Amino acid sequence: MKLLLLPGDGIGPEVTAVARAVAERLISQGLALDIEEAAFGGASIDAHGTPLTDAAFAQARAADAVLMGAVGGPKWAGVPRTVRPERGLLRLRRELELFANLRPVRCWPALEDATPYKPQTVRGADLVFVRELTGGVYFGEPRGIEPLPGGGRRGFDTQVYTSAEIVRVARAAFRLAETRRGKVTSVDKANVMESGVLWREEVTALHAAEFAHVALDHMYADACAMALTRRPTDFDVILTDNLFGDVLSDAAAMIAGSLGMLPSAALGIGPTPGLYEPIHGSAPEIAGQDAANPCAAVLSLAMALRHSFGRADLAARVEAAVEATLTHGFRTSDLAGGSRRVGTAAMGTAILERLG
Ligand code: IPM
Ligand code: MG
Repeated sequence: MKLLLLPGDGIGPEVTAVARAVAERLISQGLALDIEEAAFGGASIDAHGTPLTDAAFAQARAADAVLMGAVGGPKWAGVPRTVRPERGLLRLRRELELFANLRPVRCWPALEDATPYKPQTVRGADLVFVRELTGGVYFGEPRGIEPLPGGGRRGFDTQVYTSAEIVRVARAAFRLAETRRGKVTSVDKANVMESGVLWREEVTALHAAEFAHVALDHMYADACAMALTRRPTDFDVILTDNLFGDVLSDAAAMIAGSLGMLPSAALGIGPTPGLYEPIHGSAPEIAGQDAANPCAAVLSLAMALRHSFGRADLAARVEAAVEATLTHGFRTSDLAGGSRRVGTAAMGTAILERLG
């Protein structure tokens, strides 16, 4: 099996180095895995003039899983929009058709006191977003910025979904709910958007046809934002479009205490590799300072073990090692509480020690 690492920008290389060390530990214990690395995002712009070279894309396609660190940063703020660092990521998601983005969020018992919530509000919260990842306003055409005849300019994007796009991601959400607590909350703005009306109709029809045994409710995106804060324990699987999922998953991160705790998996259908990413960004303000939290990257590796390598056993071991590390009080600076303030590398060492 092949794992392609795309460390990317900012804190990406630091956190993927920890994930790599965890993978190498598993390899030394018998996991048959080849690790490759390629430049990505701003790092690839600097080296090759493009955020994702065709060679790196071919490497990704040939891998079983791709683990990305983070992309972007102020250094590339001035590059033309078509070659922004993020474009490499969007190309990977789109061309590999990784339409189902799983973003699990839980309140770790060890971090109950590290969130901005009252412990009783978040205790036991355990939910997962299934975010549509290859459609919607991220890719809809037409889009652009154009001058207006009378002066000024007009910027526009297109929010668009086909029924096929909605049905395949909704199916992924229902299937996931079957393996969990059997509840899907579908999020839209059907009160305002036509694409939201279609979203709700298609999800409702699929539910009636194939998943009537799963509980389904619908929520407007704004109400969902509030409900996530008020009663996060109410949720099991949250099905969203691309943009709502981006926004709501960052907001939900505080249930875990930090964006630095949230992994993700982007999955397609058939032989396409899975793409695994911490949901945090490149955090340029702390890059290179050994301050980033590597947990999200390590937990993303665990998701790769589970979803791409068929090794749920190893995934559970890695997750348990992260949990034990937190329970022992180790915290990077993004996490409140704890008894041992450590940097990225020391957090990695602590995780490895508990991995055995
Ligand atoms: C995410 C990120 C990306 C997104 C950016 C980096 C393009 O915010 O994965 O949540 O908006 O999807
Ligand atoms: Mg985001």
